[in-house]
Amino acid sequence: MMKTIEVQLGDRSYPIYMGSDCLHQADLLTRHIKSRQVIIVTNETVAPLYLEKVQTHLQQYELEVVILPDGEKYKTLTIMDKIFDALMTRKFSRNATLIALGGGVIGDISGFAAACYQRGIPFIQVPTTLLAQVDSSVGGKTGVNHAKGKNMIGAFYQPQAVIIDVEVLDTLDDRQLSAGIAEVIKYGLIRDIGFFNWIEANIEKIIARDKGSLIYIIEKSCHNKAEIVAADERESGIRAILNLGHTFGHAIETGVGYGKYLHGEAVAIGTCQAADLSMRLGWLKNTDVARIIALFKKAGLPTEPPENLKAQDFIDLMAVDKKNIDGNIRLILLNEIGKATLPLDVDRAPLLGTLNEYGRSK
Ligand code: NAD
Ligand code: GLY
Repeated sequence: MMKTIEVQLGDRSYPIYMGSDCLHQADLLTRHIKSRQVIIVTNETVAPLYLEKVQTHLQQYELEVVILPDGEKYKTLTIMDKIFDALMTRKFSRNATLIALGGGVIGDISGFAAACYQRGIPFIQVPTTLLAQVDSSVGGKTGVNHAKGKNMIGAFYQPQAVIIDVEVLDTLDDRQLSAGIAEVIKYGLIRDIGFFNWIEANIEKIIARDKGSLIYIIEKSCHNKAEIVAADERESGIRAILNLGHTFGHAIETGVGYGKYLHGEAVAIGTCQAADLSMRLGWLKNTDVARIIALFKKAGLPTEPPENLKAQDFIDLMAVDKKNIDGNIRLILLNEIGKATLPLDVDRAPLLGTLNEYGRSK
């Protein structure tokens, strides 16, 4: 069975199709392709698994395929040139369609390439990790990393459609599945206490890859994300709450080197740090923080910051963040479970308290 959620953005609205055999339905893809020229961008891990399934539907098209190396460390401006080279070599025009087939790294790079080539060509997201299905493929944030800061170069650029096939998660390893669950838990924490309670009650089934539970968390996550994006596409307000835990998390990813922690793992640790800080500010109870940490642990995620990243390292790294204004570190915190704050300038003392003390006891 297939479900559709619409991301409501006026004339740039688009559907998110989700279900258990979406990759087999040629029409889901082809109805969004407006010309004969199509380029698929994927990577060396996903290509052997799913490229043929997608290619089968595109035999009538002038098809180009770009297979990128796999990894967060390749999410760079340099790698994008491989996509531009292919587009230029084939003399593809501005109505060519780009299909991003892969996890969040492929989706972010390809979406940004689509935004840039001839100032914008249509693109379709076919996310193949849980993280990409519940978060990165929806909402139009595209971009690449810089050595000094995560996702610092990019554009808002919405896809024509998002096609989510839950069956592709069968080949995803457990660590990657857990990384995706971090972003799922995020939706519960920031705005949906009922969803948080449901995840808490069903975490064993999710980890065991029960298909019904996976479809449910994907649907609830996409629903939450679509509502937030429709309300604030370019993050001038409420969309920032999607960054809960991300300022700490991005500091971890950049500080220890891209790819050492998975994005979702860094977000899990960062969310625990944000919860600890929210407690220091008098908002969360310590039982709330314990509940949050316990859920991340049950989901197979790390909850403590890397030993070698000290408080001052965090401060320096967090100074490079898109939410900051005039050099002040701004954070999303929790007023309660199910209710996030907008970006806040936080006093240094409680922030240093969290950075020096949370998860540092050993
Ligand atoms: P990823 O893209 O690196 O994929 C994780 C790993 O799984 C890779 O090795 C990949 O090749 C492999 N893989 C993908 N699909 C597979 C499948 N079906 N079976 C087996 N292996 C598969 O990582 P990710 O967690 O998907 O995405 C993380 C990235 O997403 C980060 O760069 C992060 O910054 C970005 N992100 C962006 C947004 C956004 O709004 N644009 C939101 C959240 C995260
Ligand atoms: N992942 C954060 C956002 O889409 O805004």
